[in-house]
Amino acid sequence: MKKMLALVLSCIMVLAIAGCGGGDNAPASSSSSSSAQTGGKKIGVAMPTQSSQRWIADGKNMKEKLEKLGYTVDLQYAEDDVQAQVSQIENMITNGANCLVIASIDSNALVNVLEQAKANNIPVIAYDRLLMDTDSVSYYATFDNKGVGVAIGKYIEDKMGLKEGKGPYNIEFFAGSPDDNNAHFLNTGVFEVLQPYLTSGQLVCVSGQTSFDAICTLRWSQETAQKRMEDILSGYYSTGKNLDIVVSPFDGISYGVSAALEGAGYKVGQKWPMITGQDAELMASKNILSGKQSMTIFKDTRILADKCVKMVQAVLEGGQPEINDTTSYNNNKKIVPSYLCSPVPVDKANLQKELIDSGYYKKAELE
Ligand code: GAL
Repeated sequence: MKKMLALVLSCIMVLAIAGCGGGDNAPASSSSSSSAQTGGKKIGVAMPTQSSQRWIADGKNMKEKLEKLGYTVDLQYAEDDVQAQVSQIENMITNGANCLVIASIDSNALVNVLEQAKANNIPVIAYDRLLMDTDSVSYYATFDNKGVGVAIGKYIEDKMGLKEGKGPYNIEFFAGSPDDNNAHFLNTGVFEVLQPYLTSGQLVCVSGQTSFDAICTLRWSQETAQKRMEDILSGYYSTGKNLDIVVSPFDGISYGVSAALEGAGYKVGQKWPMITGQDAELMASKNILSGKQSMTIFKDTRILADKCVKMVQAVLEGGQPEINDTTSYNNNKKIVPSYLCSPVPVDKANLQKELIDSGYYKKAELE
């Protein structure tokens, strides 16, 4: 009898724990109260690529947070293949998605498939990258993309003593993918801060390549950036000029830049240039500690996912999501109501506080 009672009690405990939301791997249906609210609705999450660590974290965060609320999640990566992303979204629509969350590869290439979403009354939320030329997008969750560029520019201004009149320094610029609206916003921010110093001659772009068309990097590709850096070093710096600063808008591009510099004989610690970045990837964080990269911009994907999930809930369950910008993101069809998270510049001085103390990385991962 006692044994029976113990068995019954332990069954009750197991059920109670499962009912409390379960672990990360708990099936969606286990959080019964939330799935009652969300009705097990299907969310299609389309991510661009797994070649960069950040998107893996973004996808994982979104999936976990949505499943905890009782949604069913179809998470797809298109490995930077534009057509593959179109097909994935078409499949999500066919399979009865109730809402789509999209981080696009080419933001202009989704116009037709987004029309299909609209025809099926499926709300769409743009994740980190704005969806252009469409009115089939309800909300946009992102970081302050121009603010990222301003932060990169200000870091250079501050650390190189530009306000105090120091220089001249040789500088080269890299921008992101031309089909990603973020790349344009970021670049505007960079030049807003640094253009006066190019004009004054404190910064000298030896290659002369400063226009967006000249400095952009299709698909934010590390290989493309490395090749361009190699060409610049051999074409403009082979006669003894030192490259002092490289503006990089993404950690992946910073890796390509570093590889080209190493190939040209530059050594960390010996007139190695200041190199910027974005995303606080694990490798970039290690490179900051070793002196190979000077800084990155930390975009906490946990916060971005939180804001985006609230948008999903709002479009599906009713209510207003948190919005803090209704003017900046015009996609040529409408101004998309947005939530802009705050980017945080990180270098050796605050890496511990921002990335380790905040639990984003474990100390051991960085060793
Ligand atoms: C951009 C994003 C950056 C970086 C880049 C390459 O859209 O704003 O943070 O992730 O894509 O993936």
